[in-house]
Amino acid sequence: MNNKSQTGLKEQDITFPDKKDSEKFKTRVKRFYEFLNQKLNTSIYGEYAIFMNWGYEPDGNLNYAKVDLPEYFLNKRSTRLILELVGDCDLKGAKVLDVGCGRGGTLYTLSQFYQAKTLTGIDITDANIKFCRQNFDGEPIEFHKGDAENLPFADNEFDILTNVESSHVYPNLFKFYREVYRVLKPGGYFLYTDIFPNQELPNFLSYLQEVGLSLELDRDITSNVILSRELDAENQMGALAISEEETAENQEQEEDIQAHKHVMALPGSDLYERLKLQEYGYRIYRFKK
Ligand SMILES: C[S@@+](CC[C@H](N)C(=O)[O-])C[C@H]1O[C@@H](n2cnc3c(N)ncnc32)[C@H](O)[C@@H]1O
Repeated sequence: MNNKSQTGLKEQDITFPDKKDSEKFKTRVKRFYEFLNQKLNTSIYGEYAIFMNWGYEPDGNLNYAKVDLPEYFLNKRSTRLILELVGDCDLKGAKVLDVGCGRGGTLYTLSQFYQAKTLTGIDITDANIKFCRQNFDGEPIEFHKGDAENLPFADNEFDILTNVESSHVYPNLFKFYREVYRVLKPGGYFLYTDIFPNQELPNFLSYLQEVGLSLELDRDITSNVILSRELDAENQMGALAISEEETAENQEQEEDIQAHKHVMALPGSDLYERLKLQEYGYRIYRFKK
């Protein structure tokens, strides 16, 4: 397939403007996650900080998770997002790939609550993979370094592909979606959750369907994610000891500190307000190949 789709969509239509220089952008993303890992690994919470998603808090609307968590459960809202993502999808005996696995929280959750055959994670940031290999040593999970836009796997290899709050930083989503289709077996599922600019959603969906994936479930969970941010964001920020007064030793570090404040979506922050104003929406999708 070339980069112009049948409906006339071009790659540029869903590629964010600040990501046009793809390699430079990826280097910037990696640097940020290296910084975050260094912060986390030197915090007393390091080994428990296995998630980098914004979490899910039930709000009275229909929930899809088939597993109940006790009231006091470590990383409860981040875990809940994964349980909502899986919903009633049958993972028993499945070969699962998590793309953009971060510090392993998604795969660890799957290993605890479902009986997949194999669990494999891939992430572009060295420090994430290093942490995962050490922290989950002995768990039946494999971790590899790699790029979502160029997955180092054979065609038709996986039954399930998960992607959690990661795709919004891929410079070329077209490439990623084509890779999802390629590595999934026919009949396999793409379980996908992320933040999207609402105005561009039709473009994302058209292309996903055009690469051959059919939409089975579309949930707007923005209100659940906003609630989760209101309950957790400040504590998570505090746990990393990044305060309003924090001063950077150099320009790069200053950029990373600002980027971190931004991606935490603290109530009152620009991202939080954009979610509230419905400029951005947080979705859960299930596609079938
Ligand atoms: C917000 S974190 C989410 C991590 C994890 N999915 C979670 O929910 O905890 C985004 C992750 O995407 C990874 N990432 C960014 N660009 C990537 C790419 N092109 N290929 C693979 N991973 C990428 C980052 O290294 C980071 O670990």
